[in-house]
Amino acid sequence: MDIRFDGKVAIVTGAARGIGYVCAEMLVESGAKVAIVDILADTLAEAVETLGKKGTVKGYQLDLTKVEDIAPTVSKIREEMGEIDVLIQVAGILAGNPAEKITVAEWDKVMNVNSRSVFFMMQAVTGQSMIPRKSGSIVNFASIAGIRGMKEPLCSAHYSASKGAVVQLTQQGAVEWAKHDIRVNAVAPGGVLTNAMKSAPPEMLKNAIEPIPLKRLSKPEDIAAGVCFLASDVAANMITGQTLIIDGGGAVVGV
Ligand SMILES: NC(=O)c1ccc[n+]([C@@H]2O[C@H](COP(=O)([O-])OP(=O)(O)OC[C@H]3O[C@@H](n4cnc5c(N)ncnc54)[C@H](O)[C@@H]3O)[C@@H](O)[C@H]2O)c1
Repeated sequence: MDIRFDGKVAIVTGAARGIGYVCAEMLVESGAKVAIVDILADTLAEAVETLGKKGTVKGYQLDLTKVEDIAPTVSKIREEMGEIDVLIQVAGILAGNPAEKITVAEWDKVMNVNSRSVFFMMQAVTGQSMIPRKSGSIVNFASIAGIRGMKEPLCSAHYSASKGAVVQLTQQGAVEWAKHDIRVNAVAPGGVLTNAMKSAPPEMLKNAIEPIPLKRLSKPEDIAAGVCFLASDVAANMITGQTLIIDGGGAVVGV
């Protein structure tokens, strides 16, 4: 099956770089018009320029912790690009800190970016665009850390809590918005070979890969393919409220 998004408008948060960039690229290559939302102005401008060669892409600079700016940004995207069919929420911050060292400021920042903004972005997009048109598809970014405990050195109670909240917001959104024919799903990646990960010490990479049944980390494209599958009303028409683990089988053997 060839998954296409021709004529659809998609918002992808956190798409100036990393996994979000690849999600935006896959969507634009599949025919979607894509609004990229990110805090990083220069990186966002570069991404828009590169991806703009493949289709219609616009950039919207937004700090998702400024919750009062979310709904106005969604309004602006609707005015400039049209009503929103697909929302992909990739923006997130990774945080590693043992539980006894986490400060209140760190806790609030991680929760605000990784889960509070996810809820208020869903509220704005469904309220403005999806509920009135009784259609839409949302894919949120959880993490394997939001599903089970993580061993040191990857442990991070605030990150895990923020991603666990995404799993639950996904289920709750799916139930409440099903009557409007809006589907809400999430992906939960294990380790992903992003540029940041590529520069990790070789020993750390080896240790991360060794217990994974498929003996490799995911590429950003592996995650983006799962996102496009869940976002598609053709491929995933009856799937809602689910969190798709993409981790080469790590969770199955308790990595
Ligand atoms: N990389 C991994 O191994 C991995 C594993 C599991 C889950 N994830 C999740 O996947 C998502 C993407 O991860 P990545 O590795 O591509 O990270 P990344 O840091 O490369 O990209 C995250 C993007 O989010 C943006 N962002 C951060 N704070 C923001 C804010 N306040 N407002 C707007 N934009 C903001 C950043 O500018 C960046 O462009 C995250 O949600 C992360 O938690 C990643």
